[in-house]
Amino acid sequence: MSKRYEKPIPFGWYAIDYSDGLKPGDVRPVEYFGRELVLFRTESGTASLLSAHCPHLGAHLGYGGIVNGESISCPFHAWEFNNEGYCTSVPYAKRMPPKVEGKQCVPSYPVIERNQMIWAWYHPEGAAPMFDIDEIPELASGEWTPLDTYDWKINTIIQETGENAADLAHFITVHGSPAMPQGTVEMDGPRRVTEFDSRAHAIDEQGNVDLSGENHDAIHLRSEGVGPGFTFQRFSRMFDVVMMGTVTPIDDQNVHLRFNFSVPRKQSEDNAMMATGTVHEIVRQVEQDIPIWEHKVYLDDPALCDGDGPIAKYRKWFQQFYA
Ligand code: FES
Ligand SMILES: [Fe+2]
Repeated sequence: MSKRYEKPIPFGWYAIDYSDGLKPGDVRPVEYFGRELVLFRTESGTASLLSAHCPHLGAHLGYGGIVNGESISCPFHAWEFNNEGYCTSVPYAKRMPPKVEGKQCVPSYPVIERNQMIWAWYHPEGAAPMFDIDEIPELASGEWTPLDTYDWKINTIIQETGENAADLAHFITVHGSPAMPQGTVEMDGPRRVTEFDSRAHAIDEQGNVDLSGENHDAIHLRSEGVGPGFTFQRFSRMFDVVMMGTVTPIDDQNVHLRFNFSVPRKQSEDNAMMATGTVHEIVRQVEQDIPIWEHKVYLDDPALCDGDGPIAKYRKWFQQFYA
């Protein structure tokens, strides 16, 4: 079968794994960006991402490689490489071969740890990071619960999953929403901010729900994204939920989508119930989108109508991430 998508992988910061799950000395093979990679944490704690294959004779560092101090040691002949891909030891050679001495001989990726995750910067030509992603204060606070995580591997591209929020009409057909969401979208450089207000039955301090239909509380949703791989949703007013959405290209036809939720440890029982309901609803909605994403094609020149929402604006914004 021919490829459904002809687009290159966009550049940006992408979530690779959870910080917690990678302890000093851990080594694991990963596949993202259409490349084989090795993720490891040095003994002092630096998370590192390198191309998988050793420049000596091509062994995969992620299968049997071990961390030694600040380097990873190849399982085949024990040459060592640091997090920047420089060879730090050839244990049995009298002198280091000129091909590797003082040179970066394994491609490496800039790595940061933020919001409980390990992120790598991908650019097809290896250009340095051009923007940063936000720190989410709730995810660094002991007053919010540990991440509740969900993930999916989906046969689609990031531009398509991101278009979902701009595509207002599908909320009615695919997700059964009673009305099209009303909101504002602002785009500024790599950043995209959407604000939605909706209304729900009012609840008093004791958690009594007023079903008379006369009183309403506002639910506010602010959704913010930086670059193609990071979004952050904050529900507030009636109840609190934060969600960090990450999407990482596995290759140019597939993505790894992760949703990570946190709620305040202290929240009234009713608010907590509504927060849980919101989490389930968001997860249910993605699972409704997946079969559409996995079989649709991308139309460069779609037949849009006036009620479709800011799809054209979104597409124009997204173009900036293609090198
Ligand atoms: S292949 Fe890695 S040290 Fe020989
Ligand atoms: Fe959707």
